[in-house]
This record gives sequence, structure tokens and C-alpha cells, in this order.
Amino acid sequence: MGGIASSIEIRTATPADTEALLGVEREAFGGSSEAELVVGLMSSSAYIPELSLVADNDGLIVGHVLFTRAYAGGVPAVLLAPLAVVPAYRHCGIGGELVRAGLGTALSGGFQLSLVLGHPEYYPRFGYEPAEPYGILPPYPVTPPEAWMVLEMGMGARERAAGTVQVADELMLPEMWRT
Ligand SMILES: CC(C)(COP(=O)(O)OP(=O)(O)OC[C@H]1O[C@@H](n2cnc3c(N)ncnc32)[C@H](O)[C@@H]1OP(=O)(O)O)[C@@H](O)C(=O)NCCC(=O)NCCS
Repeated sequence: MGGIASSIEIRTATPADTEALLGVEREAFGGSSEAELVVGLMSSSAYIPELSLVADNDGLIVGHVLFTRAYAGGVPAVLLAPLAVVPAYRHCGIGGELVRAGLGTALSGGFQLSLVLGHPEYYPRFGYEPAEPYGILPPYPVTPPEAWMVLEMGMGARERAAGTVQVADELMLPEMWRT
């Protein structure tokens, strides 16, 4: 069986992790836009502290994922953005473990859908699929349309989610929806 190194723990971020996880965002994306977005989202009403998760390698934070509250046709959902793993720790499953752990927490919290704008080759491995065929639309048009994806966690939730999703105000900018 594969799996990430046993020294790496996937856990909910604490306030003490904030600087380190913002550093991960900067390093992973090679700029400060995503870190600034995380700062904004953390002070938004869409923020769910349990859904900010870090990968902790013996005290060194090497990965981060944030899911924030969204509504799709009134169905409670979580939007995954951003996901970041520092380059030296990529390709060993940390990104995947962060996503899976966050989805597990979201499911326990009663969320019925997860949404993501991301690489169409990456997210289907977790069960995400293109959202537009279900009539679940992003706030701004995205290219390619397959990059806008949904994962159903509550039975029948996709079919009840048609319409334009509501997301955190911090994400309501056209530049946030460019791939
Ligand atoms: C995407 C990212 C989080 C993956 O982290 P990771 O810990 O390497 O992820 P995993 O080990 O679980 O999975 C690795 C797989 O992801 C896929 N992958 C990674 N980057 C990808 C990309 N840009 N496009 C498509 N697939 C990608 C590959 O299939 C890769 O498989 P490989 O290791 O056999 O090459 C990391 O590469 C990263 O931080 N990238 C920069 C920020 C970013 O693009 N975030 C995602 C925004 S949608």
C-alpha cells in the first residue's frame, strides 16, 4: 500500500499555523495572490475553521487546503480553494490526503456538495466531475468549462443544486475564475 510518510500529519490548522500556511501558499504558487485570498477568506463569514487543513511534517507545515462555505441552489456546499503543497514535498500524495481529509470533515459537517475550479486532470480522482452538465454554474464563466467541477456527498444533491453558486464575497471577482 502507498500513502504519505508517517511523519506527515494532516490536521485542522490552528491560529498558530497561520503564518506558516500563508508561506506555503506563497511558495507553492510563486506569488502572494493566493496567500492574500486566504487572509481574506479567513475573515469572511464563509470561513469554516475546521476546513482549513495543513500537512505537518514534524512541525514543518508543507501543505494547506481551504474549503469555504458556498450555496448551490440552496444546497449547502464547500468550495475548495486554494490547495497548495510546497515543491519539495510534491508527488507523494500530500495534496490528495489534504483533499480527502477535508472532504471527510465536510461530509461530517453536513455539507452535501463540494465545488472546485481546478485542473480537470487532477480532481476527478477524488470523484469531482464537470458541474455545468448539472446546471451548476460558476459566478463567472470559466475556460475550459470542465475545470469547474462538483462532487456529490449527499444523495441527489447535484440535481437540487442547479443555478449560479453563491460563494464568499472575496471570491466574487472575475480574476478569481481564470484558470
Ligand atoms: C497541485 C498540487 C497541490 C498537488 O500536490 P501533490 O502533493 O503533489 O499532489 P499528489 O501527490 O496528491 O498528486 C500528484 C499528482 O497530481 C497531479 N497534478 C499535479 N499538478 C498538476 C497539474 N498542474 N495539472 C494536472 N495534474 C496535476 C499529477 O497527476 C500528479 O501525479 P504524479 O505525482 O504522478 O506526477 C501541487 O502540485 C501544487 O501545490 N501546485 C501549485 C499550486 C496549484 O496548482 N494548486 C492547485 C490549484 S487547482
